[in-house]
Amino acid sequence: MSKMPSKKSLATRSVRAGLESDAQHGSVVPPIYLSSNFAFEGYKQPRKYDYTRSGNPTRDQLSGTLADLEGGAGAVVTCTGLSAITLILATLPAGAHVVAPYDCYGGTYRLLAALHAKGVLRVDFIDQCDPAALRDSLAGGDTKLVWIETPSNPLLRVVDIRLVTQAARAAGALSVVDNTFLSPLWQQPLSLGADMALHSTTKYLNGHSDVVGGAVVAADAEMHRTLAWWANAIGVTGAPFDSFLTLRGIRTLHARMRVHAENTAAIVELLTRHPAVRAVHYPGLKDNPGHETARRQQSSFGAMLSFELAGGESAVSALLDGLECFTLAESLGGVESLIAHPASMTHAGMEEEARVRAGIGAGLLRVSVGIEDPADLVADLSAGLERAATAQPAPHLRRRVS
Ligand SMILES: Cc1ncc(COP(=O)(O)O)c(C=O)c1O
Repeated sequence: MSKMPSKKSLATRSVRAGLESDAQHGSVVPPIYLSSNFAFEGYKQPRKYDYTRSGNPTRDQLSGTLADLEGGAGAVVTCTGLSAITLILATLPAGAHVVAPYDCYGGTYRLLAALHAKGVLRVDFIDQCDPAALRDSLAGGDTKLVWIETPSNPLLRVVDIRLVTQAARAAGALSVVDNTFLSPLWQQPLSLGADMALHSTTKYLNGHSDVVGGAVVAADAEMHRTLAWWANAIGVTGAPFDSFLTLRGIRTLHARMRVHAENTAAIVELLTRHPAVRAVHYPGLKDNPGHETARRQQSSFGAMLSFELAGGESAVSALLDGLECFTLAESLGGVESLIAHPASMTHAGMEEEARVRAGIGAGLLRVSVGIEDPADLVADLSAGLERAATAQPAPHLRRRVS
């Protein structure tokens, strides 16, 4: 058993995740169990573990840590964030009604939309900040699940978790919050009324862009048992090596998050005063519509932001071409700074009409702020903004005059 003291702060608990749990040799860092199977002690005498898809000591150490950090009864660790999403959907009855945000992560949207098109689920994509839309979508009385993602990807819209989970519960539906953008250190959905918290552990939890993984943390033990049963049945449980690395990442989560937040403040400050930028989407800004809700339910405004360039697509390519400290790549939450163009990258899986409805235009860029020296990040982005300000429309973007 881990000697983790349960009443310490989240920071201490994340640093000490899994430490001193090796009863055999007393290794400080826990050993890794890569074995796919475990010997029975004898005829009809299985041990705690028999087969790694069903259960594995290293994966259990990660799930125990995640349940502890999110304040849940138990967690199921999966092989990707999307398989964690699939797992939750697998527990629903056929044809179930699901309410989801119209601006959720593109992969979540693609999966829900495809299952809706096949008749497996009935999904309403709504603006969950609009009380009337939420009321109308729950009015049928047969909703099984309300999907929440806050802050949303890529526009950082903040949904009031307490309000939406209360409405879901009153309508007899379960609720889940995709907590990927903040990690349990900065937001704890279960304490705000959610039945489940979901993570792409690929992002901040692992934090080093070298693992793809996911997890669902359940508020109650019955839900956890159901999720664990389905995870084994459909075969989406996470690999031991990935679990080991993710646990290692969690031990520096607290320190990384502090630097992510400091660097983000410097970048937001640059973006808000630069004439090449038409809008900055960041809940830490006082005039952001989600600012007050974020202050209430988050302990940091986060390290993700997006911004719109006044010059549209040609400004986008001018800014991106020549960046040295930001990698043009999908994903987020690693130590390295990343920049992405949601319309052509992370959200390309959405139909154009849905993208436009969600406000994801061609001039939008999303940044995952890393932990490099903030002066280097600001200088690099500043130079990019200057290029964007003076960019001419590329020939294929110029309006034709006939
Ligand atoms: C908010 C959010 N949820 C879920 C996922 C899916 O996670 P994964 O890529 O680990 O499958 C992502 C991926 O970018 C994401 O950004």
